[in-house]
Parts: sequence; structure tokens; C-alpha cells
Amino acid sequence: MTITAPESLSAGPAPHPETGAPVKLWLCPNDALPPAVAGVLATHWLDEREHKTAAGFLFERDRRQYLVAHTLVRRALALEAGLAEAELVIWRSSRGRPFLQPRPGGLPRDGDHLDFNLSHAGGYSLLGIVRRQRIGVDVEGLGREAGALESILTAFTPEEQRWVAGAPTGQQRDRRVLRLWTLKEAYSKARGLGLGLPFDEFSFSLADDRGVLAFRPPADDLAGSWRFLELEPVPDVLAAVALPADEHSAPHLELHHGFPWDRAAPHTIALPEPVGPPHD
Ligand SMILES: CC(C)(COP(=O)(O)OP(=O)(O)OC[C@H]1O[C@@H](n2cnc3c(N)ncnc32)[C@H](O)[C@@H]1OP(=O)(O)O)[C@@H](O)C(=O)NCCC(=O)NCCS
Repeated sequence: MTITAPESLSAGPAPHPETGAPVKLWLCPNDALPPAVAGVLATHWLDEREHKTAAGFLFERDRRQYLVAHTLVRRALALEAGLAEAELVIWRSSRGRPFLQPRPGGLPRDGDHLDFNLSHAGGYSLLGIVRRQRIGVDVEGLGREAGALESILTAFTPEEQRWVAGAPTGQQRDRRVLRLWTLKEAYSKARGLGLGLPFDEFSFSLADDRGVLAFRPPADDLAGSWRFLELEPVPDVLAAVALPADEHSAPHLELHHGFPWDRAAPHTIALPEPVGPPHD
């Protein structure tokens, strides 16, 4: 599988390990985990709530996606926190955002400071893991029916709608819609709000090819300064990552591909400069 890499992407160790733990990103295609294996791992690793959700899917395809996503979360978090997969306790906020439950004596490996976010769509799971800050991620596949994305447009701000309309209909316009959509979801998920945050209350200005030029946060985001990364890790699979630009900001991200079985070297990607409202 080809990885479409931005110029700053290279294989190998992180360039500045002393400046903070890197953000970890796992992109796992469903194919990386044969259904029987995912089933066995899920039996041993998932909690009651996850088993119940998995049992409730109407279509086998959706159950498979869910099992891969949730075994990925548990495996990757187990590696980070130094616990067995089934020992991890995951709780959800009132808006449904999952968090790793701290322990009274603290989790091993500074695990109490881990944050993660998951997205699963179109045969891929994307998991972001970070320490001492929040993360939001989203992944979407481009291969939808023509016109399927038109309804999403109405959720955007007028200036975003104009930018989308500037592209010819078809793939190019769909791409603009999905670039905005993944960024908005990633931001909203980093804040734990999900679709509870109206998508026309904040806006992005994007470069034609890739990258966020400007960001206008919603009124309740006082700091409002964020790093946004756009990726196309596989052709026609668009992903976005949102990270608050605070003192815990890591300068780079490690992109891992597949299921966390081995310790293959990730691709290191420099994180873009923060964007946000102009300061006085
Ligand atoms: C979060 C949300 C935007 C996900 O949208 P999506 O594009 O369909 O799905 P994605 O694959 O990108 O992300 C789903 C994952 O996001 C995570 N998630 C769920 N709610 C979240 C939230 N509020 N903030 C951040 N992440 C959230 C979960 O891990 C979820 O996967 P899982 O349920 O299998 O664990 C949407 O489901 C939402 O808005 N949920 C909130 C609903 C709500 O407000 N509920 C109130 C209580 S009933």
C-alpha cells in the first residue's frame, strides 16, 4: 500500500526526541487483522459495553470495522500504558468521548496523562494518542456516490461553502468538502463535543493542495490556537488531526501503519505551525 507523503515525511526515528513525546497515529486497514483473529482478540480484550455494541450490528462488515477499531485502541494503549489490553478501563463522557480511566495509584508509564481519539470509516481505523494534551482525529474515504456530499455543505460557513463551490463538481469538489469535514470533526472531537458543536460556528481557510492557512475558532474557544494536520495516508483516504497548540505541543507526529504487532519504524511527520485568531 502506498503512502502519499507530504515533503516533511520521512521514515526513521524522530528528529528531536528531547522536546517531548511524539504524537502517535495508527492507521489500520481492516485487512490488517483477519476476521477470526479480530474475533479472538476481541473476546479476550473488549469490555462488556464493547461486546454489547459489537453484537448489535446488523451487518457483518460494520461489526468487523468495530472489532478492528477497538482491538487497535486496546493494543496501542496497552503498549503506551504498560498494561494488559483487558486491564484498561475506558469510560465515556456524557457526550460519548472515550477516555482511559486513571487509577488511584497512577497508571504505569505515566499512563494517566494519555489521551486518545478514534475514527473508523470505509475499512480504515485511525487512532491518535498523545500525552498531556488532547487530540482529535477523523478519517473518511472519498469514494462516495456523486452528490452524496452536497448535503454536508449546508453545515459549513458561507465562506467555506464559497471555497467548495470554486472547485469543479465531482472528485475535486468532494475532496474540498471532505477536507473541511475531517478537519471540523477532528477539532470537535479533540474538544469532546462531537457533532454537538455546530460546524458553521468555526471555520477553516485551506490551501488548494493541503494544509490549513487560517482557523477561526468558535466563540467559546478562548485560547483558539491549534495545530491541524491533513493527511492522505492512502490514495482517496483523507485524514485530519487536531491538537491544541499549548506548552505540551510535540513538534512531530509518528505515523504507524497496520496493527501494532511489531515495532516497524513509523514515518515521522513535522507538525504544522499553529493557526488561530490573530493576537493583539
Ligand atoms: C463523535 C462523532 C462526531 C463521531 O462521528 P463519526 O464520523 O460518525 O465517527 P468516527 O468514526 O469519526 O468517530 C467515532 C468515534 O469517536 C469517538 N467519540 C464518540 N463521541 C465522541 C465525542 N463526543 N468526542 C470525541 N470523540 C468521540 C468514539 O471513539 C467513536 O467510536 P466508538 O463509538 O466506536 O468508540 C459523533 O458520533 C457524535 O457527535 N457523537 C456525540 C453524540 C452525543 O453528543 N451524544 C450525547 C450522549 S447521548
